[in-house]
Amino acid sequence: MDIGLFAGELGGNLVFEGNFDDLLKDEISLTARYLRGDAEIKIPSKRKAVKDKIEIIGSREHNLRNVTVDIPLEMLVCITGVSGSGKSTLVHDVLYAGLKKQRGEWQSHVGLFKEIIGAELIDDVVLVDQSPIGRTPRSNPVTYIKSYDAIRDLFATTAASKSKGYNASHFSFNVPGGRCEICQGSGTVTVEMQFLADVELTCEGCRGTRFREEILNVKYKGRNIHDVLQLTVREAILFFKDTKKLVSRLKTLDDVGLGYLRLGQSATTLSGGEAQRVKLAAHLSQKTKSNTLFIFDEPTTGLHFEDINKLLAAFRALIDSGASLVVIEHNIDVIKTADYVIDLGPDGGVGGGEVVVTGTPEKIAKEVASHTGKYLKKVLK
Ligand SMILES: Nc1ncnc2c1ncn2[C@@H]1O[C@H](COP(=O)(O)OP(=O)(O)OP(=O)(O)O)[C@@H](O)[C@H]1O
Ligand SMILES: [Mg+2]
Ligand SMILES: [Zn+2]
Repeated sequence: MDIGLFAGELGGNLVFEGNFDDLLKDEISLTARYLRGDAEIKIPSKRKAVKDKIEIIGSREHNLRNVTVDIPLEMLVCITGVSGSGKSTLVHDVLYAGLKKQRGEWQSHVGLFKEIIGAELIDDVVLVDQSPIGRTPRSNPVTYIKSYDAIRDLFATTAASKSKGYNASHFSFNVPGGRCEICQGSGTVTVEMQFLADVELTCEGCRGTRFREEILNVKYKGRNIHDVLQLTVREAILFFKDTKKLVSRLKTLDDVGLGYLRLGQSATTLSGGEAQRVKLAAHLSQKTKSNTLFIFDEPTTGLHFEDINKLLAAFRALIDSGASLVVIEHNIDVIKTADYVIDLGPDGGVGGGEVVVTGTPEKIAKEVASHTGKYLKKVLK
């Protein structure tokens, strides 16, 4: 069963159901297009050459056997290897915690290693994981990428706001003023049920709109603040077309494939993969700290080929702006696009913990001892 055609608003239809041979003949399904090879995740024509690097020396955490390895900068580095080979140990416990500790920003456990050289080559190290972007319904995609302030400012400059004396804070659901005080701007109320789980109900005061009636009467280009929060990212890009800076921020959400999300969709309802890409978009929209090392642990979990293509384009945009990426990945279509691969293993647990081979995907494919190599060989032709 293939569901789509696209995501969110543009999805929700049963595109195809049937056996595999019939799916291959389907003209509409995106999945079929990738299966036939009409659409594909392309192998880059050339790999970036290694220049600067961070060196990890003598790592012995968990199953790692005195691992010494270079992490090249300003490129896409994939950490590969079977489950249990030591990828998360090397990247989270040693590289991330080790760099954070050196910067004085880490108090908890750091994996065992002798030395990390080259930390001064990066301005910052950021872990972009699939954990939620916020635990309250007040946080949402547009607040996370820091675009809501600009929207509130637009509402504050309307003639209606000026005549009533409303300022930008009246259009916030985080502070008293314009928000509905019955639900304190969340649009829902939690009812505690004895012996049962709590239930979330739409607030009766504002009917879920989060704002007071008077505030909802203020319109910008015919829409009130609640209507605007209901717009999808793609609709909002057109609606705010005259406000350049706002549009360029919203575009980063579209660039990572989230153009279908509604601006006000509560952070608590985003999927893990969506949350991770909202974080990525926030980093794309900043662009100030260019020498940042970004770490991703299996960013393609739950993503379709089509989403992976968008994610890879976003990765390349980060690299072009000077960032370095270290990505733990099992997906062979992502690994084949890496500039440099660090393959751990050869197996899991006590059978792993060593560097099997490092280098370009082409080099990994030639290494007989590498499980990753066997599969890369098939896709690199
Ligand atoms: N806290 C721990 N204490 C002891 N052993 C651990 C601990 N965490 C991980 N290990 C072991 O270290 C080895 C490497 O684990 P790690 O999580 O680094 O694997 P991985 O390559 O990231 O695997 P996956 O692809 O499944 O995420 C495994 O054998 C694991 O059981
Ligand atoms: Mg892991
Ligand atoms: Zn309310």
